[in-house]
Amino acid sequence: MSTLTQSPAWRALQAHQPIMAQHHLRDLFNQDPHRFDKFSLLFNDILLDYAKHPVNQQTIDLLLALARQQHLENWITRMFSGDKINQTEHRAALHIALRAAHPVFVDGVDVIPEVKQVLQQITRFVNAVRSGEKKGYSGKAFTDIVNIGIGGSDLGPVMVTEALKPYGSPHISVHFVSNIDGSQLSETLRQLNPDTTLFIIASKTFTTQETITNANSARHWFLTHGGSDNDIAMHFVAVSTNQSAVEQFGIHAENMFPFWDWVGGRYSLWSAIGLPIAMAIGMENFSSLLAGAREMDQHFMIAPLEKNLPVMLGLIGIWQINFFGVTSHAILPYDQYLHRFPAYLQQLEMESNGKRITRDGEVFDYNTSPVVWGEPGTNGQHAFYQLLHQGTQSVSADFLAPCQSHHPIGNHHRLLLANFFAQTEALMRGKNESEVRNELISQGIPEASRKALLPHKIFPGNHPTTSILFKKLDPKTLGSLIALYEHKVFVQSVIWNINPFDQWGVELGKQLAGKILSDLNQTETVNSHDSSTNGLMNYFKANQ
Ligand code: F6P
Repeated sequence: MSTLTQSPAWRALQAHQPIMAQHHLRDLFNQDPHRFDKFSLLFNDILLDYAKHPVNQQTIDLLLALARQQHLENWITRMFSGDKINQTEHRAALHIALRAAHPVFVDGVDVIPEVKQVLQQITRFVNAVRSGEKKGYSGKAFTDIVNIGIGGSDLGPVMVTEALKPYGSPHISVHFVSNIDGSQLSETLRQLNPDTTLFIIASKTFTTQETITNANSARHWFLTHGGSDNDIAMHFVAVSTNQSAVEQFGIHAENMFPFWDWVGGRYSLWSAIGLPIAMAIGMENFSSLLAGAREMDQHFMIAPLEKNLPVMLGLIGIWQINFFGVTSHAILPYDQYLHRFPAYLQQLEMESNGKRITRDGEVFDYNTSPVVWGEPGTNGQHAFYQLLHQGTQSVSADFLAPCQSHHPIGNHHRLLLANFFAQTEALMRGKNESEVRNELISQGIPEASRKALLPHKIFPGNHPTTSILFKKLDPKTLGSLIALYEHKVFVQSVIWNINPFDQWGVELGKQLAGKILSDLNQTETVNSHDSSTNGLMNYFKANQ
């Protein structure tokens, strides 16, 4: 048994769970008309409603006691003060420094002047490209930017660029290539002209196979479609922490935008990794994005735990995962511009907290990150909501939506939000046997058919959802929303005693891919792996 599951705060929650599990959510609402006032929080224009979870005031008090037992406040202070809390890599975790307005120290040195210096470098470059002052080799302004990166060097920038499309420049299109599947690069380059295309090679380590392979192929395309070796410097820039690898690739140090080892890949969109975002939306909007995150940081740092949005979002997740057995969590944005938000959160949550051992190297006896997935509403309603309403799995979900649309055409937005509210209410209430029977009677269905239909039309309800509403999806609000989730992940990591800033689990696949590639390059039949892997590789070799 682990220290956590033996601890008083954990045991108190365990003892409390059966009491809450007896109540259907609709009964909790019937018993207390003030649940919304008690179990929702407002920060700036972001409303967080967690009333549709099986909680009462005692639950919240017990969850807060768990947070205090795990020294959450102390961990928050440690993160903000540059302690090396990523202990397996001996690094601080200071994405907050990228948007901070106060000094932040690493090894006794204030990093903010360096952060500002890079931000100025980005500002000069972005302004020169967007204004057309910086031109390609034929003297034409750049019209297309291709960001080549993967994981944290892709998902954050893609998600934000898509989310803030209404703020994008009509003169510059930003494209993203991440997959090593040559189809993505080919389809992207097919539409582009080398003389008006700028490539950003984004990789923290500058050793990632996918990115380096795509970057080499992009350079080859550039050189075989009109560009020359001398033009490379004008058309290729890099974002990385690894200057020597960047130079080895052929990009001069002056065309490199640096960042630091204390910025985790999945926390890096605020750094120079955000260059494609800034290219798309301009520096003023990029600054608003940072400002939104900064405001959430300050709130996270100083708000009392019970009024703290990231803390409450994290603790509600703990309640569901560890005490109600939820292993699957859906992210359901009712906003088409947030269509990559679930994919972004997948990496943020699953790469950070998808772990099996504690900071001290002990194997857990409790669950950690759920499987995170999702799609925008209302599309998901016509695909997988059937399982949410009547399936056998326990799934929790976050519903997100703006009150105002960027495109207030006809009745669309009200209909969209009507669906949001209807779904969260239906998931909570369900439809019981007597309600279904009355409905079938009122529809004049004969008794024999009624009996047969009745069980199919029952919805158990009692499905937990969190709702997040905000005024409008603008750069500042998006910055706050992303930081909300970053800190939620941190809160959960503290409860679970996980280091959320390393990702050793992705190494095995990388190592094996290297070995398998060398086997694929041989002409002989492969027999050095298990029979399934041998069989698959030999079939591929015969048919490639
Ligand atoms: O997949 C593992 C990972 O290390 C992620 O954490 C990271 O975001 C991604 O690869 C890309 O890494 P890099 O920016 O170094 O190319």
